[in-house]
Amino acid sequence: MNYSTPVLTIDGPSGSGKGSISKRVAERLGWHYLDSGALYRALGLAAIKNHIDIKDEKALVTLVRQIDLEFKKTEQGYWAVLLNGEAIQDQLQTEEVGEIASKIAVFKEVRQSLLAKQQSFRKKPGLVADGRDMGSVVFPDAQYKVYLTASAEERGKRRYKQLIEKGINANLKDVIQDIEQRDERDQNRAFSPLVIPEGADYIDSSNDTVDEVVHHVLNVLKNT
Ligand code: DC
Repeated sequence: MNYSTPVLTIDGPSGSGKGSISKRVAERLGWHYLDSGALYRALGLAAIKNHIDIKDEKALVTLVRQIDLEFKKTEQGYWAVLLNGEAIQDQLQTEEVGEIASKIAVFKEVRQSLLAKQQSFRKKPGLVADGRDMGSVVFPDAQYKVYLTASAEERGKRRYKQLIEKGINANLKDVIQDIEQRDERDQNRAFSPLVIPEGADYIDSSNDTVDEVVHHVLNVLKNT
């Protein structure tokens, strides 16, 4: 691995806007992009498709070895997630898959088996890595680190808006409660919990637009 290849890690909780921000920052920099949440979600989806018990850590680790996951920029300009060659990004964003991803992400061996896959995204000219443990575990030597968050209420409101726009019935109170439960699980698991990595720039996006946050993140690179 080339440790001199620059990496910008963007960690934070569900609904903090990491995904949109990371993609835009990667585009602005012309760098590669790793959506590590999509890896956990794709594994969750593969487990559903293969009827694997999501509590069976060994079976999940075997599944990791069997699946081939790729992120591809399409001609239309969006990122396609390919699971064994099949475009699956539309299936990854459901509440069910997010919930399963959060549950299988507690397993130490599952996390270890995904480590090398994640590190292999570090290629020239650089990488923007989005997740929960990018700056703390996967790329601890990253040159640039950001921790992006927003209040649970604000994140819940954003998620609720997305669901309603997609025509999915939702209740704001329940959405906020789900976010709080996922935070609890992500922050308190024994292996690679969601933490603010040492040396990371802390950005609270509760009152900022996407453009303002992108600007802020790009400034972190300029000023580091
Ligand atoms: O970012 P996301 O909502 O797509 O992530 C889905 C789940 O995957 C999240 O609840 C926890 C897990 N995850 C993780 O444990 N570590 C990462 N680096 C990324 C995601």
